[in-house]
Amino acid sequence: MNVRTVTELVATYGATRGGLIAMLEEIQHDHGYLPEDVLRQLAAATSRSLVDIYGIATFYKAFTLAPRGRHVITVCLGTACHVRGAPRIVGEFERLLAIKAGDTTADGEFTLETVNCLGACALGPIVVADGRYFSNVSTTEVADILARTRAGVDAADPGKTERDIPMCVRCPRCEHSLLDPSRALDGHPSIRLDSAFDGVRGWVRLSSLYGSRSTDAEYGAPEGVAAEYFCPHCHARLTGPPRCAECDAPLLRISVRGGGVFLRCSRSGCNERFLDVRGPGAPAEPPRGLPAESART
Ligand code: FES
Repeated sequence: MNVRTVTELVATYGATRGGLIAMLEEIQHDHGYLPEDVLRQLAAATSRSLVDIYGIATFYKAFTLAPRGRHVITVCLGTACHVRGAPRIVGEFERLLAIKAGDTTADGEFTLETVNCLGACALGPIVVADGRYFSNVSTTEVADILARTRAGVDAADPGKTERDIPMCVRCPRCEHSLLDPSRALDGHPSIRLDSAFDGVRGWVRLSSLYGSRSTDAEYGAPEGVAAEYFCPHCHARLTGPPRCAECDAPLLRISVRGGGVFLRCSRSGCNERFLDVRGPGAPAEPPRGLPAESART
């Protein structure tokens, strides 16, 4: 993997607060966490105090200062999942992994985290393993989820869970819902966005089911062409870093209710996507009133 230097990052993003957030995202993407020595380099290169840098890094729970495991298991402990037995699911993961929630196994294989709500309450308890949703999870399924995750969730049979999860999404800048109940895709409200490519602008609708590639567009981008996406309410650009691991195109980035981010490659024909739900109740983007440059690049 090509790990960018702090000098390269500062040249790309600048030393504004929004630029700092974007650089922290890039550093975490490259290293898996925010190493202290890199944060010190960042402070020096941006003429910011280390306290400032740590202030941002610790405010957003999407950032982590400690190395995480190769696989990340997140269990929803929101009210709906809680009453359906999520605490027992957490307990079973803790028992099988011999760690407590929030910890990483000694071999660096698994990190176990909890989150407050993932916006799929009717399908709880919800577990997310390396970005893949598992719904209606029971304690008897926990060992299987661990085995599948160890094998690589994408290689494992996704079974019932891949396409069954509706996401409640909103604009990371103005926080308006991006769901359009008036036009359904896959039987659920579609995600309504504006898009542009090669000077052509129009509306686009994406399926709100995680795992589905269903789309409807006024003008569809040709295969291999990356489109830009915008919020239809505040017109914020929703594509930017981090870039697609498969094809290096910018990623569409929108917020998921409960604290999380849905990332999807902007290039037509690329299937790369990721649902990031790191951290309990984590604001995965600047909340209203704070700079949102990292989502607007
Ligand atoms: S409470 Fe778990 S998805 Fe909402």
